[in-house]
Amino acid sequence: MTQRIPLNRGWEFTEHYTDAFSAGTAGTDIETVELPHTTRVVPYSYFDESLYEMDCGYRRRLDVPESWAGKRVFLHIGAAGHRAEVFVNGKRLAEHRCGYTAFRVELTEELSPGAEALLSVRVDSRESLDQPPFGFVIDYMTFGGLYREVWLEVRDRRFIDDVFARPRFGGQLDSTVTLAGDTEGLRLRQRVLSLPDGALVAEHVSEAEGERTEISFRCPGALPWSVEQPRLYTLVTELLLAGGAVVDRCKTVIGFRKAEWRADGLWLNGRKVKLVGLNRHQSYPYAGYAVPASLQRHDADILKRELGLNAVRTSHYPQSQHFLDRCDELGLLVFTEIPGWQHIGGEEWKEQALENVRDMVTQYRNHPSVILWGVRINESQDDDALYTRTNVLAHTLDPTRSIGGVRYLKKSSFLEDVYTFNDFSHNGKTPGCEKKRNVTPDRSRAYLISEYNGHMFPTKPFDSEEHRLEHALRHANVLDAVAKESDIAGSFGWCMFDYNTHRDFGSGDRICYHGVTDMFRNPKLAAAVYASRQKDVPVLEISSSMDIGEHPAGSIGRVFAFTNADELRFYKNDILIRSYTHADSPYRYLSPAPIEIDDFLGERLAENEDFPPEQAALLKDLLNHIARFGTAGFPPAVKAKAALLMTRYHMSLGDAEALYRKYIGDWGGAATSYRFEAVTDGEVVKIVVKAPAAGLSLRVRPSHTVLREGDTWDAALLRISMMDHNGNVLPWWNGRVEIELDGPVALIGPADATLRGGFGGALLRSLGRSGPASATFRAEGAEPVTVDFTVETEE
Ligand code: GAL
Repeated sequence: MTQRIPLNRGWEFTEHYTDAFSAGTAGTDIETVELPHTTRVVPYSYFDESLYEMDCGYRRRLDVPESWAGKRVFLHIGAAGHRAEVFVNGKRLAEHRCGYTAFRVELTEELSPGAEALLSVRVDSRESLDQPPFGFVIDYMTFGGLYREVWLEVRDRRFIDDVFARPRFGGQLDSTVTLAGDTEGLRLRQRVLSLPDGALVAEHVSEAEGERTEISFRCPGALPWSVEQPRLYTLVTELLLAGGAVVDRCKTVIGFRKAEWRADGLWLNGRKVKLVGLNRHQSYPYAGYAVPASLQRHDADILKRELGLNAVRTSHYPQSQHFLDRCDELGLLVFTEIPGWQHIGGEEWKEQALENVRDMVTQYRNHPSVILWGVRINESQDDDALYTRTNVLAHTLDPTRSIGGVRYLKKSSFLEDVYTFNDFSHNGKTPGCEKKRNVTPDRSRAYLISEYNGHMFPTKPFDSEEHRLEHALRHANVLDAVAKESDIAGSFGWCMFDYNTHRDFGSGDRICYHGVTDMFRNPKLAAAVYASRQKDVPVLEISSSMDIGEHPAGSIGRVFAFTNADELRFYKNDILIRSYTHADSPYRYLSPAPIEIDDFLGERLAENEDFPPEQAALLKDLLNHIARFGTAGFPPAVKAKAALLMTRYHMSLGDAEALYRKYIGDWGGAATSYRFEAVTDGEVVKIVVKAPAAGLSLRVRPSHTVLREGDTWDAALLRISMMDHNGNVLPWWNGRVEIELDGPVALIGPADATLRGGFGGALLRSLGRSGPASATFRAEGAEPVTVDFTVETEE
């Protein structure tokens, strides 16, 4: 039976690889590390790739027990950024030239049972490597190291090498089982168990037919995997001796579904699903790519549960299996692609790109969440010779899935099943997206927008309110336009979170502020456009702090509410000004649509003053306009109303000013308080109050508080924000938050947190020992906050 042995602890690491290192000679500058490991913990901003680029080495002793005699031993490396060579006792066994795919090396011949062996991995993280994605510029940092898990598989001479399951909507299950060793007279048993209860759904036994066995049977009652109900099953494949003894066992998580790309989009189990997604990189502040399973999973949770998305694109490379596992569990559809960014290299480089297609497809094809393979280098030029080969290879390795390939070219060579295009046409004024017919050369095949926004409008949490609102509205504009186009399959916004990048990109501090969240996954306003689409928790975000001094000429500017409630009630100093529904939104197709709050008077003039109805109505429009945009440069319609008030009702500017002061200005009076109530089914489900900030309140949101030392160390993401007394984030609070730790935990990166735009964060890791732990956060002017953690180890 295959034995899986995690190998993540007790590695020696050097930043300077030499042959002596892999030969086991004691060296200098060697430190002991654990995986996942990044070549260097990096600062938050203002650093460059030279920091993490190195030709480094990892090594560790392997005790080879006598019981391994006659067995085959394989080393599995989840990822090595970016080129790896594997050695045993100084002998070079293999090389892998991709930092984003897993690989396996057989060690058997080099190991002597009962003796020790020295396992070494040379990892070159330099961006000068001649392999994807390198060769020109790249808009993201490509952190290095053994940043995913490493493990050994100790196997009998006969074992199950691979199971490619093809479960279908309706319960049919086809699979290809690849076996190693002499399989004469062996049988294969497959059992389908429902998750999480493990109940047996179906069982099938067949003869093993040499290296590859094709198996088909029906699983009556198997329920479909969908976005709403992502039902999963475990396929247990067992290799049996004639007498029934189990030689090997392999478990594959599967989902029964049918994904078809038609001219008008993706149909899942016979129902059309409009894709609403974001692009995700796999980087974190400080830690680069090296974070454990729990945080990979947490990102999927944020995408589905906080942002309400149904899809994600793993730009621009295959990402952690843990992330994909969680996408399977959550019903988050995945478009994944081979590594690369605009540049196509020479022949060897292209061969590696093909190798990457092979690795991507074979390593991820059992995930029900994967609905599309990207087999072009992101945004590269047409290369029919290369892309014909990537297409054929992907289709051969996985006949069940469709293929796309991301380009920024319109009407380019369309070799794939789905035309996937980065539509950056929206600039805030232009339509939210291009029409399908203007982009794709063949309208009979599906069309998907793989990116929008991003560099068109970088936005920091500490940008002005109007800038942050514009960012949110641009996301809403694109979503609204895409929702209108029934022949566009959907869209993936650029992007989920801000990321470290190279000097040719970003804001000069080596950050691309393209995220709807910041690097720590704190939501910017634009996140609310997405979040308000989910139904599980009430969402209500107001775009404005209602501070007129933040806007030119002391006006309040445009104010939007993002909510998933049926109704929005707007109160000023406890007086109901107006109730809105989504039908009042300027957006026609997006649902639920952002609501614009454009009335600060309500019926107060009509109720309190003695104006004839027409005059009250004219005045209301004029005063609301002044409240939002000031008195300069009235548009013609407003000018006409002002003229009518002067001529027909003999009002002067002074009269209007007095009314403005009375009903809108409120200067010097008791502080104005605005209350927004989200109402669903007649009940208030969420309240937001905007009033002059009084007092500071620190908030810390941990991703989880039980850190589990399992195969690797664990880490929690702590999202920190500074709020006012009403729970509103304070976008101008920039400052230091001290963090004091107790127990077996440590911070990755700096010893404290810096909040920017009211937001910041920290990564707290376990240290291999169990026990209680805590982190206390202190900032000037706010009450300290303590978060308690428990670290659990497996024993
Ligand atoms: C695209 C590219 C992304 C990112 C984005 C910024 O062209 O594919 O990686 O750079 O632009 O908007």
